[in-house]
Amino acid sequence: MSANPRVPTYPIAEQFIERWSPRAFTGESIAESTLLGFIEAARWAPSAYNSQPWRFLYALRDGADWPRYLELLNEFNRGWAQHASALLVIASKTTFAAPGKTEEQPAPTHGFDTGAAWGFFALQAHLAGWRTHAMAGFDHERTRETLKIPADHAIHAMVAVGRLGDKASLPESLQARETPSPRQELQAIALAGDFRA
Ligand SMILES: Cc1cc2nc3c(=O)[nH]c(=O)nc-3n(C[C@H](O)[C@H](O)[C@H](O)COP(=O)(O)O)c2cc1C
Repeated sequence: MSANPRVPTYPIAEQFIERWSPRAFTGESIAESTLLGFIEAARWAPSAYNSQPWRFLYALRDGADWPRYLELLNEFNRGWAQHASALLVIASKTTFAAPGKTEEQPAPTHGFDTGAAWGFFALQAHLAGWRTHAMAGFDHERTRETLKIPADHAIHAMVAVGRLGDKASLPESLQARETPSPRQELQAIALAGDFRA
């Protein structure tokens, strides 16, 4: 990889610009305890009413579940994610019981909360020297069926976790994309007062 082209407008901790989503992985094993360490970080994310709606289902590349997870991915993602060390499915419970109540009600923020948890996961993995790549390209229906995810849980994304590999291992079309991506300008997303496009 060449030098990181990302330049923040304001000073921030390095982890935020050093994390990026590669597709070249080494295919090495990951210890379950290492992966659980990343989920541990996700566990401490904030959530509405501290409802903790997130669920991290996972398969290690050396484990019996690996082929079942891998075949959920679309062909494009399977092409490179087969060299990852672990695959996850991130889901969340769409209802919750408010404090002091027993009946379940819709949880309007389950996706927001779970997005925060995934961010914590990704940053912890990065700090530990691992790389993550989230994927929307997989068969959601088959994932629900195969992994027995109940109807009151939303399925958000799959994630590949691995060690950064040599980009030469990728098809040529993907090699050019194997670099930290840019972002919109800060002023396009930080809006004082009213919304504006
Ligand atoms: C929810 C989600 C779904 C994504 N789906 C895919 C995918 O199916 N295939 C893929 O190659 N990258 C996928 N990405 C990766 C994004 O393209 C990538 O995160 C984005 O371009 C920003 O780049 P960075 O993560 O390297 O900073 C996904 C990312 C997220 C957060």
